[in-house]
Amino acid sequence: MSRVEVSNLVKSFGSVRAVDEVSFVVPEGGITTMLGPSGCGKTTILRCIAGLETASAGDIVIGSRSVSSGGRDIVPVEARNLGMVFQSYAIWPHMTIARNVAYGLRVRRKPREEIERRVRSALALVRLSDYAERYPGQLSGGQMQRVVLARAFAYDPELLLLDEPLANLDAHLREEMRQELKRIQRETGMTMIAVTHDQSEALALSDQIMVMSDGKVLQRGRPDEIFRRPGTAQVARFLGATNVLSARRVDGQLKIDGLGAVPGAADQVGAAIAAQVLFRPSDVSVRPASVAGGWPGEIVFSQYLGREVQYLIRCGGREVTAEVPSQNDVFPEGAAVSLQVAPGALFVYPEAA
Ligand SMILES: Nc1ncnc2c1ncn2[C@@H]1O[C@H](COP(=O)(O)OP(=O)(O)O)[C@@H](O)[C@H]1O
Ligand SMILES: [Mg+2]
Repeated sequence: MSRVEVSNLVKSFGSVRAVDEVSFVVPEGGITTMLGPSGCGKTTILRCIAGLETASAGDIVIGSRSVSSGGRDIVPVEARNLGMVFQSYAIWPHMTIARNVAYGLRVRRKPREEIERRVRSALALVRLSDYAERYPGQLSGGQMQRVVLARAFAYDPELLLLDEPLANLDAHLREEMRQELKRIQRETGMTMIAVTHDQSEALALSDQIMVMSDGKVLQRGRPDEIFRRPGTAQVARFLGATNVLSARRVDGQLKIDGLGAVPGAADQVGAAIAAQVLFRPSDVSVRPASVAGGWPGEIVFSQYLGREVQYLIRCGGREVTAEVPSQNDVFPEGAAVSLQVAPGALFVYPEAA
């Protein structure tokens, strides 16, 4: 199993710098995900690691082998010993599941007994042993996704690269496959690098998350670190802290425009005069207006989501979103309310002057 080290990786397409001096280490064993919006360079990094794309500059080391250096490929894609699972999977409809999984091994002219053994163990790993002789048309979406995984595992790769592997599945299957991927990683000890634009997927799946934007890695860490201590306002927003308020230093305190001071927050922004305060809708509690000590607001819009009620609340001259458990008080539109956010749930960042 392989550790991956990427140093100062650059990949340009004409004038577009898709990957902009990115450095990171993927530890051996475990799942690392690249999380970021569409177009931020995730697929390009994966393709450079795979050898499907030649980097413009930088170094890529897989295990103990340098595979790409200074804009030149040293080890070609077929010699990198990795498995790849992409969003659009090509499965042959006229071949049985077992033959589909065996296909690449046949092309590589592996001995028959070895092919049979590898196919058997790959199908067992994804719990499809009983489906070996069926045809793709007889399988569900989730089972098909497992076939694609089995096909990658059959090569016995040192490293598995997955590009939005669950994006085509419906919500229920996606959750099931997340657990499957994690189970398989734990059972095999394989190193996996996955790409996703879905924060809950990244949080559930990963041992390490890299949050990306515009060809750069903004933050790298364990899911709980990234979730609880986002390093920048951009990362916080990307991890669901979609309420953004501006604040200013006044008399040694940080005051949110129109709402008042945030206790203790001034210490978090160094000498900055202006700051951004972010928080998640699920960290807002909404109380009747008579409850003292909160920010006064008025419900503009409410949406019943089943387990939660989502409110859009006019507060201090702007709009704040709150998501509260639906068994709490339900407020009608137009109601006057008091908002509270626990100090620990406020993310405060200095703003450049
Ligand atoms: N083959 C290519 N030719 C030109 N531009 C490309 C090519 N592949 C990717 N890009 C550009 O590089 C940037 C990053 O793309 P990509 O890595 O696919 O992002 P992501 O996977 O995060 O959505 C985008 O601006 C995209 O348009
Ligand atoms: Mg992509």
